[in-house]
Amino acid sequence: MAKTLNIDGKRLYASLAELGRIGAYTDENTGIVGVNRLALTAADGAGRRLVTKWFRAAGLRVTIDKIGNVFGRRPGRDDSLAPVMLGSHIDSVPTAGRFDGCLGVLGALEVVRVLNDAKAATRRPLVVAFFTDEEGCRFGTDMLGSAAATRRIPLERAYALKDRDGLTVKDELRKIGFLGGEPVGRLRPHAYLECHIEQGPLLRHKGLDCGVVMGVQAISWQELTIVGKSAHAGTTPMSFRRDAGLAAARLDVALREMTLSGRYGRDMRAAMGAINLRPNMVNVVPSRAVCTVDLRNPSDALMAKAEADFARLCKKIAKQDRVAISSRSTAKTPHVPFDASVQALIAAQADRLGLSHEPILSGAGHDAQEWSRVCKTAMVFVPGEYDGISHNPREFSTRKQCTDGVNVLLGAAQVLAEEA
Ligand code: GLV
Ligand code: MN
Ligand code: MN
Repeated sequence: MAKTLNIDGKRLYASLAELGRIGAYTDENTGIVGVNRLALTAADGAGRRLVTKWFRAAGLRVTIDKIGNVFGRRPGRDDSLAPVMLGSHIDSVPTAGRFDGCLGVLGALEVVRVLNDAKAATRRPLVVAFFTDEEGCRFGTDMLGSAAATRRIPLERAYALKDRDGLTVKDELRKIGFLGGEPVGRLRPHAYLECHIEQGPLLRHKGLDCGVVMGVQAISWQELTIVGKSAHAGTTPMSFRRDAGLAAARLDVALREMTLSGRYGRDMRAAMGAINLRPNMVNVVPSRAVCTVDLRNPSDALMAKAEADFARLCKKIAKQDRVAISSRSTAKTPHVPFDASVQALIAAQADRLGLSHEPILSGAGHDAQEWSRVCKTAMVFVPGEYDGISHNPREFSTRKQCTDGVNVLLGAAQVLAEEA
C-alpha cells in the first residue's frame, strides 16, 4: 500500500513561474507577459537546461535520445520492471502562457520531489520526461519527439523537417546541445500519465476541479501553396487578375462556413493560422500564398468527409480565381481513445481527494496520444481561467487548480508503480 502523500503546490507553482521567465516576452496586443519558447530555439535550449538541472537535483538519472527527448529515471524497488512514465513538453507556441505542457513536466518532477522528501520507494521505476517539439508550429509536425520515440515518424524523416528559414530539426537539435545518443523506439513503459491544462472552457464553466481525459480528437494539418500572378495593383483590371491572396481569403472563409454548416458534426474546428503572401507589398497583386490549414474533429469519418470536401473546394476556387492550388499533409492523427482502466484510476484518485470531475475529450493534441500506442495511457486535465484560453499569454490556472491536478497525477502514479 503506497503512502498517502500530497504535492507541494507552492513549490510546483514557483517552478512554473521560474521556467516561465525563460522566453518571456510582452504581448503586443495586451501588454501581458507571455512565453515564447519555440522548439529548438535558444530559449527552448535554456528551458531544457533548467529543467534538466532540476531533474538531476532531484536525483534522477538523465538520458537524452536521438530526437532530443529528455528522460529522468528514478529507480524502483524492482528495477527490472518497466517504468511508469510521466511527461509532457516545455516547447511553446510563440504566444504562450506558462502552463501548456510545462504543468505536466514540472508536475511530474513535483511527484518525484514529494516521493524523495517522503523517502518513499515505488515498486516500479518512475521516468519523468519532456518531449521535443510537441507544438509542431516551427517544423510543421506536432508531437514530433514522442512520435519519433514511439516510431510513428521515422527518425530520419523527423531530422529532415525544415522551418521557414530552411533550418533542419537535426541541425537545430545539435545547435542547442540536445542531439542525444539514446536510440529511439526502445522504451516501453508500463503506463504513461500526463497532466495538462484543458485549454478550453468546459471544466471551468461546469465548476469542475479536474477532467478525466477520454482521448484526443482527430487532427489534420496541411500546407497549401497557391500560385497566381503578380500584377500592378493600380492598373490591372480586376477581371485580369490571378490573385493568390484572394484565393487564400476565400478558402479561409470557406473553412469557417464548413464548421458552421453542421455537415461535419457540431464539433468540427478549423483554422488558417498562417497566410504568407508574396511579394507581400502594398501595390502588387499577390503572386503566391502559402497557408496552413488545421482541421479537428472527434470523428474520423467526419474528418475524412471534411478533408475531401475541402479538397473539392480548393479545386473550385482554383478554377474561379485562375490560380493553381497544391496541398501537402504535414500532420495527421486519428481520434485516439485512452485506456479505460487508467481513466478509472484517475477518476478514483480524484474521488479520493474529494475533487469533482467528468470525462472530457481533448481538443488539443498531446504527447500522451503517441504513448498510448505503446502502453496504457490517460491524462488528467486542469481547468483554466478566462474561458480556459490557451496559446495566449493570458492562459492561467490557479495554484489550487494545478495542485489538485498534480495530486491526482501523484496518486495515480503511485498506484500504477505498485502494479505487478
Ligand atoms: C497542440 O497544442 C495542438 O495544436 O493541439
Ligand atoms: Mn500542450
Ligand atoms: Mn500547445
